[in-house]
Amino acid sequence: MNNFIYENKTKVYFGRGCVKEFLTCLVRDYDTVMMAYGQGSVKRNGIYDEVLNILMREGKKVVEFSGIMPNPTYQKVLEGAGLVKEHQVQMILGIGGGSVMDCAKAVSLASGFEGDAWENFWERKGIIDFDLIPVGVIPTNAGTGSECNGAAVITNEERKVKTGYDYPACNPKFALMDPAYTFSVPKEQMAAGAFDSLSHMMETYFSEPDERNVSDEISEALMRSVIRDLRQALKDPEDYMARSNLFWDSTLSENRLIKMGKKCDFTSHLMEHQIGAYTDCDHGRGMAVLHPVYYRHIFRDGLGKFARFARNVWEITPEGKSGEELAAAGIDALAAFIREIGLPTTLRELGVEDRKQLREIAASCHYSPGGYRRLDAAEVLEIFEECF
Ligand code: NZQ
Ligand code: ZN
Repeated sequence: MNNFIYENKTKVYFGRGCVKEFLTCLVRDYDTVMMAYGQGSVKRNGIYDEVLNILMREGKKVVEFSGIMPNPTYQKVLEGAGLVKEHQVQMILGIGGGSVMDCAKAVSLASGFEGDAWENFWERKGIIDFDLIPVGVIPTNAGTGSECNGAAVITNEERKVKTGYDYPACNPKFALMDPAYTFSVPKEQMAAGAFDSLSHMMETYFSEPDERNVSDEISEALMRSVIRDLRQALKDPEDYMARSNLFWDSTLSENRLIKMGKKCDFTSHLMEHQIGAYTDCDHGRGMAVLHPVYYRHIFRDGLGKFARFARNVWEITPEGKSGEELAAAGIDALAAFIREIGLPTTLRELGVEDRKQLREIAASCHYSPGGYRRLDAAEVLEIFEECF
């Protein structure tokens, strides 16, 4: 394996009832707590009341930061940072999906920095040499793995850029993960979140080194779990076992564990983020559109690994197939799975209205050096055209 340093400072409390059991002691040291949440799901499913009651019972001063949108904007981050300063918030509690958790981390970063946070931490990778207000998270959607990493993916609407770096200093202090909190996620959102996890696994798996390594073996197990448990959770959204597995799969796919010793690709993510910057589409749905098309472009550059993916993840028998046929069959299985779980297959379904827009989006993409082959702008445009 390649050399690596592994660090993850988020403490996870996982399981039914964990908020009731542990939140009190986790906020003990803070008098003023910001409740950061999205556009209303936590009020409809009762999670907001459950958390607020605990904070009130403990005598906390609660500062509300609501209305965090999917694909949180830098403007929203600045609004939150203003509230933190105005009320001298001591802890930020992000309650929601990846968008809320990312925004909570971004608010902590932006409120602790005197200069232009966008330029220093999103436009380029910066150095965090100042204290951050601690963030705790209560995820309500499985998918991004934001609960256990330091990334805050933020959209700068003015500049039409969606981006984020993983800063270990921004890892949440704790994550309270109750799988039952994800029961109310609508089915398509559930599928999109699970596909995002699968995408994180694939983006890591399809990169060097391909020699025997435990990171790839963990990824294969996680990918099989997402496929199996998503199918089950779509049948029965309140299947606790399936929702627990999906929840933990998503954490393990983005808590850096499976990335150890791997180059990591993330080309599809970089492309999707720019599609999101232009269309505000849901991230997991965007990943579903891009993956099969991208992989049909590059699979010959990583043929052995794509064949292994077909065998070990999709259980396709190699008999009677050439390496290329086997690898292609794995990508076909992935595409069929995307259709089966009801995710989109074209950019038009994501809100790209005009073919002409593709050129501008392609020109705004960054390219990852970690994949089997580095794409150039012309090939990104070709992929977008095929996805349109
Ligand atoms: O806004 P609310 O009302 O909370 O509703 C949300 C939103 O409409 C809803 N939802 C969440 N939990 C629910 C629920 N509805 C009913 N019941 C629940 N329990 O779901 C909708 C989507 O939420 P969102 O947070 O946007 O989705 P997701 O968790 O997929 O997060 C996506 C964001 O995370 C970023 C994406 O780019 C996107 O901005 N990512 C973050 C990463 C990270 N930090 O490591 C990595 C990812 O690759 C990704 O880029
Ligand atoms: Zn993702």
